[in-house]
Order: sequence, then C-alpha cells, then structure tokens
Amino acid sequence: MDSSFATRNTRGTVLVIDDTPLNQDILTDILGREGYTLRFAHDGESGLVQARHLKPDLVLLDLVLPGIMGTDVLAVLKQELPETMVILTTAYGSEETAIKALRAGVNDYIINKRPFDADEVREVVKRAVTEAILRRENLRLQQEVDLANEQLAQKYTELEAAYERLKELDKAKASFFSMVSHDLRHPIAVAKGYLELIRTGDQDLSPEVRGGVEIAEQEMRYLNELVDDVLDLSRMDAGYYHIDRQPLQVAMMLQQAHLAFRAQAAQRNIALEIKPCDDLPLVSADSLRMNQVLSNLIENALKFTPEGGRITLSANPLDDEIAISVRDTGVGIEPGEHEKIFDRFYRIRRGEQIEDKGSGLGLAICREIVRLHAGRIWAESELGKGATFYLTLLPADNE
Ligand SMILES: Nc1ncnc2c1ncn2[C@@H]1O[C@H](COP(=O)(O)OP(=O)(O)OP(=O)(O)O)[C@@H](O)[C@H]1O
Ligand SMILES: [Mg+2]
Repeated sequence: MDSSFATRNTRGTVLVIDDTPLNQDILTDILGREGYTLRFAHDGESGLVQARHLKPDLVLLDLVLPGIMGTDVLAVLKQELPETMVILTTAYGSEETAIKALRAGVNDYIINKRPFDADEVREVVKRAVTEAILRRENLRLQQEVDLANEQLAQKYTELEAAYERLKELDKAKASFFSMVSHDLRHPIAVAKGYLELIRTGDQDLSPEVRGGVEIAEQEMRYLNELVDDVLDLSRMDAGYYHIDRQPLQVAMMLQQAHLAFRAQAAQRNIALEIKPCDDLPLVSADSLRMNQVLSNLIENALKFTPEGGRITLSANPLDDEIAISVRDTGVGIEPGEHEKIFDRFYRIRRGEQIEDKGSGLGLAICREIVRLHAGRIWAESELGKGATFYLTLLPADNE
C-alpha cells in the first residue's frame, strides 16, 4: 500500500506519527484517496528519522507517544525542518491543550473524537499541505532570486574590475603619448633654440651660413609639423584622440580660418573669400579640431593655387547635414586621385608642382577628424580646373 502511494506524489507527502494502529488505519482510509504520499511511524524516534529522510510537507503528530513525547518531536521538527507543517492529533486534549500546542509552533490541530471526523481531517490536511507546497515554491523562487542577485553582484564586480583595468590602460596610454611626444619634440625645440640664437646673435654670419641657418630653421619647423601630425594619427589609431563637440556657428568657423590665412593669401596675391552663410543652423563640432581641418584644406588650396587665383569658403545645407567647402582655382586633381589623396603619406607627383613641401598626412588627418564627427569628406575636381573639398557636419540639434 505504501509503495503505491509513494509513486503518486502528486499532492504532497504526509508523515503520520502515531502509535495507535487503529488511528493509522483510519487516517489511511480518510486520506488514502486524496492522492497524498502517506508514510507512518509508530514512535517519536523513528518518526524523526523518517521525517529527516522524507522532508514531508506535513506531519500528523500524535501528542502522546511512547518514548519521546509529541511535544519534543515537535520541537525537533520545528528546528530541523522549518518548512514542514505540523498538525497535532490528540485524543485526550481539550481545545486548551491544542491551543497550547499552537503556541509551541504547531500549525493546526485535529481532535480525535474517536473516530476522527473525516471531513475535518481532509479539510485541515488539505489546507496544511497546500500551504506547505506554497511555502516550498516560495522558498524555491526566493532562492532563485537570491542566486540571480548573487550572480548580478558578481557580474557587477567583474565589470567594475574591468573598468578599473581599462582606466589603468588609458592612463598608461596617456603617459605613453605624452612621453613620446616630449621625447620627439624636445630635441627639435633645443635645435630650434640654438639656430635662433645663432641667427640673432652678435656674431657676423657669412651669407652662406645665414642662409644655411634659415634653411635649417625651416626644416625644423617642417619636422615639428610632421611630428605633430604623426602623433595625432597614432593617437587616433590608439583611440586616444578625443573630440569635444559643441554647438558651433559655421560662419564663425569660416571667419576664424579666413582671419588666420588672410595675410598668407594676400602675400601670394590670392583672393580668400567667404560666401555668406549666416542663416545656417548650428553644427555639432569640436572647434579646435575643425579649425585644424579647415587649416589643412586652406593650406593645401594655397599650396596648389598659382598667384592671382581665388579660394572660396562656403557652407550650405546638404540633406540633413551642413556641407562646408573649400574651393580653389588651382592645379586641380585627376578623378583617379580623388580617393587616394586621403591616404597617409600619399602625394601626387607633378612636374610643375607649385610648392613641394609636405608629408601627405594633412588630408589623412582631416578624414579621421571628420569621421570622428560622424561626417564625410571628399574632393571634387578636374585636372587644371581647380579643386573643391567638401566636408559634412551634423546640425547641433540632431544629436
Ligand atoms: N587643393 C588641392 N589642389 C590640388 N591638389 C591637392 C589639393 N589638396 C591636396 N592635394 C593633393 O593631395 C595630396 C595630399 O594632400 P595632403 O594635405 O594630405 O598632404 P600634403 O599637403 O602634401 O602634406 P601635408 O598636408 O602633410 O603638409 C597633396 O600632396 C596634393 O598632391
Ligand atoms: Mg596638406
């Protein structure tokens, strides 16, 4: 009989600790059809052994037992199996005894009116087992939640540690770049200083020496620019080149560039002009970096435009973006070169080059900076017909 119940553990497990065989029979009768897994013990000791092994949902505990008393069994059960419900069955007890037992931690009681009231037993047992199952389910869910929280805390700690490592790496990168840039710039600065000292010193210099010093100074300036460009590009490659975007007026940007190159253009008899663009929306850009881009483009335009030419700065809406352009009337660029000129160190070899200084890094840097702004940059030109360089920026409110 026991085994058949044991295999259908559908409604919970009930352990009956009762020394009266008749009671066991009656309870089997009443509960047997309810679908519980029923187990029996005849005294407190073996009851506890079974309970520990079985971890039942419910114990039906007789108050008066041979050996250790029901109340002692109760105390052990409450301590060792807090999830297990305990219902006291007592024949002698008045309601008073039962209430005392409730205080001691029993979940409910059934008074054995000899015989048991079958409906009462069914009802009380059902309630207790249901509660036990609910409790167990709650506990399981709670454990799942606890586990999830624990895992979350663990992940959080890992993330924090990873973030700390990244910060360390970032610091290392920063100090690497400042170290390298110092090591490269310092000797140039020293050489420049001495060259200037020689040039402006008391000693009379022969024209050859003076000329040599001036060339050397020019080369140092060029070397300085090259170092700056190479450092910029390696910062970009390392992801250590930061841009700080702010809402900017395009007209202001163009005016600044105009101001910086006005004298140089005038010297070469090149007209440098801005097309009015005051009513454009603000763009989102890093003013220093964009100044660098525009400077590179205007330097190029100056470099590749013969005297008497014209350089025009303008800005116009282009779809959702603002397009800035630098147009010149210079030597122009063959369509086949339009992409390549943005590659690092790429320079077009021309016979009648107007000015041959440069490393071929200017446009590569422009492209990286514009990319960091989520914009595009390109050239439109035909050989001999001047060139126009375009770049796009996002309007400030589009972020
Ligand atoms: N406005 C222009 N007109 C004609 N050719 C140009 C113009 N701008 C750039 N180029 C061509 O593209 C090449 C690459 O330009 P980039 O600015 O990258 O290098 P660079 O000016 O030669 O050197 P750097 O800018 O590093 O001093 C130039 O060497 C030149 O051949
Ligand atoms: Mg250039």
